[in-house]
Amino acid sequence: MGYAARITGTGSAFPERRMTNDDVARKLTEFGLETSDQWIQERTGIVERRISNVGNEAERNSSLAARAAIKALEMAGRQAEEIDQIIYATCSPDTPLPSTACWLQQKIGAHRAWVMDINAACSGFIYGVVTAEQFIRSGHSRTVLVIGAEVLSHYINWQDRTICILFGDGAGAAVVERVAPRSRRRVLASYLSSDGTLSELLIVPAGGSALEVTPERYAQNLHKIRMSGREIFKVAVRTLSECALRTLEQARIPAVKLDWFVPHQANLRIIEAVANRIGMSMDQVIINLDRYGNTSAATIPTALDEAIRDGRIKEGQTVLTDAFGAGLTAGAMVFRR
Ligand code: UT7
Repeated sequence: MGYAARITGTGSAFPERRMTNDDVARKLTEFGLETSDQWIQERTGIVERRISNVGNEAERNSSLAARAAIKALEMAGRQAEEIDQIIYATCSPDTPLPSTACWLQQKIGAHRAWVMDINAACSGFIYGVVTAEQFIRSGHSRTVLVIGAEVLSHYINWQDRTICILFGDGAGAAVVERVAPRSRRRVLASYLSSDGTLSELLIVPAGGSALEVTPERYAQNLHKIRMSGREIFKVAVRTLSECALRTLEQARIPAVKLDWFVPHQANLRIIEAVANRIGMSMDQVIINLDRYGNTSAATIPTALDEAIRDGRIKEGQTVLTDAFGAGLTAGAMVFRR
C-alpha cells in the first residue's frame, strides 16, 4: 500500500551582509561598468541580496544550512537523531569532496542519517523533495531533511553585469515525513524534466574535471558563471508554465483551487509571465527575490518558510512550487500543507 510524504517543518537562514543595488552599481564602476538601482529593479524586481563573508566559517554553505535545518526540525518537533536521510541540493558546495551533506551532518549531529548532495541547480529543492517522497513512499525512509542552499556569490563574475545583479546567498530546509497514504495534507503530485541540450546556457566552464583552472583560465574568469540571459528567460517562461500545468493535471487540481504559488525567484518578469499563463493572480504568489535576489536552490524553501512563519500559508492550504535552473533542469510540485 505504501506511504505518502508531508512537509512538516521549514527553516531558512541568510548571511548578514546586505548588498543593495546601489552597492552593486558602485562595485561595477571598479571595472568601468555601469548599472543602476532603477535598471535592476525594473528588469528583475531585485532590490538587494545577501552575500556571505568568505572566510567566515559561520557563513559557509553548510553553516547557513545548519541554521535553517535546526529551525525546520524545531517546527516539525523532531530531533536531528531522528533524521533517516539528508538530501542536500546545491551547486555551490563547501568542498568538491566530501559532499556538503556530510559537513551538515557533522554540524547538526544527524548521526543515524545517510546523506548525499544533488545538483539540479535552481531546481534542486523540488528535485530533493520529490526524491525524498519516493524514499518515503517505498518505506525506505521515515524522516528526510531536504536542504536547498547556496553560496553562489563565490561564482559571480563582477565584470559581467547581467550576472552580478542577480544572485545572492542563503539556505532553506524542509523536514519531509512519512504519513498515511490518503492523508489530506501531503505531496499531491509532481513533474520533473531536464533538457541537457541546453547545458551551455548557464555554465561554470572551469573547475570541474573537464577543465582545470589554470592561471590563464582564471584570468578569463572561466571558473565563474556564464549565462545567456535572454535565451534562459524565454525557455524559463515556457518550461515553468509547462511543468506547472502538467503537475496540476496530474493532481487533478485546477489553478483556481490553488491557494499559493511559490515559484523559483529568478526574475519578477518571469514570475509574472508564468503566473499569468497558468491563471494565478500575483496576490497569490510568494515573492522574496526583492530582498534576497536569486539564491538558486534556496529560493523556494526560503520563500516557503517565510510565508509559513508569517501566517500567509496556513495548514490545509494547497501550494504549487515551480522551478527551472542550469541544465536545463525544471520541475513542479503541488502539496497540501
Ligand atoms: O536561475 C536561473 C538564472 N538565470 C536567469 O533567470 C536569467 C534570466 N534572464 C534575465 O533575468 C534577464 O535576461 C537579465 C536580467 C539577465 C537581463 O535582462 P534583459 O531585459 O533580458 O536585458 P538584455 O540582456 O536584453 O539587455 C538589454 C540592455 C542591453 O543594452 P543594449 O544592447 O540594449 O544597449 C544590455 O547591455 O540592457 C543592458 N544591460 C544592462 N544595463 C544596465 C544588461 N545588463 C545591464 C545592467 N545594467 N545590469
